Amino acid sequence: LLAGLGPAAAQDYPTRPITMVVPFSAGGPTDTVARLVAQSMSRTLGQQVLVENVGGAGGTIGAARVAKASPDGYTILLHHIGQATSATLYRRLPYNALTDFAPVGLVTDVPMAIVARKDFPARDLAELVAYVKANPDKVTLANAGVGAASHLCGMLFMQALGTPLTTVPYKGTGPAMNDLVGSQVDMLCDQTTNTTGQIKGGAVKAYAVTTATRVPSLPDLPTTREAGLPGVQVAVWHGIYAPKGTPDAVTGKLSDALKVALKDDLVKQRFGELGTEPVAEDRATPKALGDFLAAEIERWRPLITAAGVYAD
Ligand code: MLT
Repeated sequence: LLAGLGPAAAQDYPTRPITMVVPFSAGGPTDTVARLVAQSMSRTLGQQVLVENVGGAGGTIGAARVAKASPDGYTILLHHIGQATSATLYRRLPYNALTDFAPVGLVTDVPMAIVARKDFPARDLAELVAYVKANPDKVTLANAGVGAASHLCGMLFMQALGTPLTTVPYKGTGPAMNDLVGSQVDMLCDQTTNTTGQIKGGAVKAYAVTTATRVPSLPDLPTTREAGLPGVQVAVWHGIYAPKGTPDAVTGKLSDALKVALKDDLVKQRFGELGTEPVAEDRATPKALGDFLAAEIERWRPLITAAGVYAD
């Protein structure tokens, strides 16, 4: 299984299609980022980069698949902040996020927005907080499982209010958003790459963004800090990984193709419309992602431990 590639094969890489595992459902925010980037990387690498959605358990099933794949660059992972938070959230993971992967590079930073079904009674964040506190047994909060960004944001929201809610887990926020639009669940905190279109189209009600500053594509939405919930701060980031043992020549080629993708006009335009932007070129490298992941694991560990949320 861990045959990998010899130096000659690494030089020729890639000679066949590459599978990019997205550890959440199709049509959701991680999938959206992955498909935009994969399209451009396919052109640069001269081989198709095919997105495969392997959802479940907050992204950890898809990540485990790639951790155990052959280290030949033909199975890679595009994951988000959950690669860092799952290291603390899960008591037992079948992989180590730091040592079982060969980082390729960071992709993008994505704000989140707190949204509710369009007929939800609260008109602004203060009213939302008051309503949730008064009706904790009635309000349902969707997420994409323990380890998802939506789970993390929901956890911070419930912690800030001191109010536990009934959570409804999905394999991704693509299907969670469908149920929110259909008013089957009440609330969701999700990445702008999934919420912007629904907010602008009036399909959901929006209350705040979770970043330090407002999001240019949603200029009327206050930040959580402005609107009175400064503890709910999450900036989601995405990275690409290969299995540990993948030759540097291969991760280097993937990183170079990623850098080209992040300069692609279509990618930049779509990212902008979706409230995000590509990372600077010097962050789209193996070292930058490896260092950032290690720092993020340490940054989130005490916050998650304080919240006392764990999964097996
Ligand atoms: C997804 O792609 O479905 C999301 O990234 C889920 C999440 O992390 O909330």
